[in-house]
Amino acid sequence: MSTAKSTIEPTVFVIFGGTGDLNARKLAPALYNLFLDGWLPEQFAIIGTGRTSLTDEAFREKLLADINQFSRTGKAEKETWAKFMPHIHYQVADVKNAASYTEFGRRITEFEQEWKAPANVIYYLAVAPEFFPIIATNIAQSKLGADPERIRIVIEKPFGHDLASAKELNHLLGQHFNERQIYRIDHYLGKETVQNIMAFRFANTLMEPLWNRNYIEHVQISVTEQLGVGDRSGYYDGAGALRDMIQNHLLQLLCLVAMEPPVNFTADEVRNRKVDVLRAMRRFTPEEVRESTVRGQYGSGWIEGKKVPGYREEKDANPKSNTETFAAVKFFVDNWRWQGVPFYLRTGKRLHRSASVITIQFKDVPHFIFPPETAESQHQNRLIISIQPEMSIRLQVQAKRPGLDMMLNTVDMVFDYDGTYTTQAPEAYETLLLDTMMGDQTLFMRGDQVEAAWDLVMPILNSWQQRTSQNFPNYSADSWGPEVAEALIARDGFHWFTLPLSPKK
Ligand code: BG6
Repeated sequence: MSTAKSTIEPTVFVIFGGTGDLNARKLAPALYNLFLDGWLPEQFAIIGTGRTSLTDEAFREKLLADINQFSRTGKAEKETWAKFMPHIHYQVADVKNAASYTEFGRRITEFEQEWKAPANVIYYLAVAPEFFPIIATNIAQSKLGADPERIRIVIEKPFGHDLASAKELNHLLGQHFNERQIYRIDHYLGKETVQNIMAFRFANTLMEPLWNRNYIEHVQISVTEQLGVGDRSGYYDGAGALRDMIQNHLLQLLCLVAMEPPVNFTADEVRNRKVDVLRAMRRFTPEEVRESTVRGQYGSGWIEGKKVPGYREEKDANPKSNTETFAAVKFFVDNWRWQGVPFYLRTGKRLHRSASVITIQFKDVPHFIFPPETAESQHQNRLIISIQPEMSIRLQVQAKRPGLDMMLNTVDMVFDYDGTYTTQAPEAYETLLLDTMMGDQTLFMRGDQVEAAWDLVMPILNSWQQRTSQNFPNYSADSWGPEVAEALIARDGFHWFTLPLSPKK
């Protein structure tokens, strides 16, 4: 999202959860790659913090091992690492203890004195959500968060567990920070292909005339994952697919597809238009929840020749869990543009393949002029935005098959990243960390957005909670989810679209 390297000011990152998984897999590699690509200012410091007592050296070694394992650019080169390493520091901290924050303050002042310049400070809360309030409060009470121009606080998901808790957290943050200091992460928004939805829609004239109920028949947003919950049962069992994926990532994708063109590309204009979508979405009655939603939980099965456990048999799982690992919902956006156009969303774990794909299916031709025998091969146009692992946009159109007779078939007009660009796309966290440094909130969730998304899913959550599912597990690993998910869309005459596997390069 960012455009100018030169405007980045001296920055201190304070990473709460410094020894945790998110820092290891995402934040440290992202910071390293930003450094590699020249996006970090000359004067920057990273202070990792956690309960474990570690020396700076030990922490640096840990991060090097993490970067070597998880960075998209592979193992760190010796020379680059030698330049990056001195910027990394560690401070053992008890987040509940005010003294830890005094120490952060002291170190930040030290950096500022050394740099002879004031620093922007980014407090990154890569910790479990129960620590968000205490850390935010302590930062504020230690007077570390007072300057709205320089101090930013990054909150990882989950942002709340339901509407009430999200409101409570927003209220608490609002007491201590200005909204423009708060960066609520939804890492899907940092993905290259997700940002491209806006470029595709609003930097081209071609699509806009067709982008409405007159031409679009239905929209599918499908985020399927092959992995199970692994050792995340502790968190996941209290969440489930609706909270973990639909309330945030999938609804954000829906907003990008459904939003009106913003007046300009500034954070509030873009976010205003997204909130409009969430507000226009139809709220379900309990009866509509039954008709328009499907939930599932995976049983055991085989994936790529390996036996995998069912959800209830995963490490630390509750053997009687009623948590859904699959959710599908048929939504409607009640406004002029989208009236009557169904938006089918589905997500699940332990499915046949990992793929995030948005499919926009256009209406059929108004009148078919070709010989009846060609009708069978006639298909409606589709626009397929593949977010991952394939990164592409395809337009499926009808063409004449070569030959002496008049036969039609579907052909794809494809823009794919691999074939078009030689540079590797940055990871979502690189984009998001850079935007935080530059003070650009476009790709972050505003407080009212998060609340509007919770408000939308609450009737489903409440209804599911009141009616425990009697048939879990109801899909086996390596399937496409429960059969009722097929029925949800088949009732309307459609089927879930999956991209054919692209040949391995
Ligand atoms: C996270 C969810 O937000 O997104 C995980 O908590 C999920 O359950 C992950 O696996 C998916 O992200 P990605 O980038 O791998 O599609």
